[in-house]
Amino acid sequence: MDTKTILAIIEAIAKRIEEQKDFLTELDNEIGDGDHGINLARGFKAVEEKLPTFADKDIGAILKGVGTALVSTVGGASGPLYGTAFMKAGNVCKGKTSLTAYEFAAALDAAINGVKMRGKAVEGEKTMLDALCPAYKTIKSGIDGGKNLVDALADGVDAAAKGVEYTKTIIATKGRASYLKERSLGHQDPGATSSLYMLQTTLEVLRGA
Ligand SMILES: Nc1ncnc2c1ncn2[C@@H]1O[C@H](COP(=O)(O)OP(=O)(O)O)[C@@H](O)[C@H]1O
Ligand SMILES: [Mg+2]
Repeated sequence: MDTKTILAIIEAIAKRIEEQKDFLTELDNEIGDGDHGINLARGFKAVEEKLPTFADKDIGAILKGVGTALVSTVGGASGPLYGTAFMKAGNVCKGKTSLTAYEFAAALDAAINGVKMRGKAVEGEKTMLDALCPAYKTIKSGIDGGKNLVDALADGVDAAAKGVEYTKTIIATKGRASYLKERSLGHQDPGATSSLYMLQTTLEVLRGA
């Protein structure tokens, strides 16, 4: 995975978030304050505007730039959380102009740990972690078992999709949705859904690359 691919992934994520803005907002309307899609679309629009300035940067600097743009433009919980995720992934990729499958997995792991630290959350609390954590575990064990990144990521996307379904069955204990207690049951978590979109988009770009 080279710098050009990373830039294509970021661009594709920005496009997917914009396309799914209304749906993400609808999900957040049910268990939050109805701004998740709007928040993320604003953030990724800022990222898109910064893309030309990323052209000659290494992968670490690009991911850091994405994180910084998200933190400074996205209101709500998801801005600092996704911002931290991209910045932590950026730290791991510092100075690199290409990533092996292992390095990609390490960057995802760092991103997840950033979300956990920043949000003081763990898996099973009906957040983005319920998509990201199963995806990471599946990707890592796929790579460890000898799969290439595309195949491991395809399995990871399936695991994330299952994680999104799982969020319907649990009560939120972090974020705004936790105010609803058992009334959060039956609803799909918006952040887990946007995380799934990011992983899906990454897979699509890698398949096309
Ligand atoms: N402490 C947390 N840790 C991890 N993810 C969280 C946390 N709090 C909220 N989230 C995620 O953020 C999403 C809501 O994002 P958003 O609507 O943009 O922010 P806000 O809840 O401030 O309006 C939730 O669906 C959930 O996935
Ligand atoms: Mg919200």
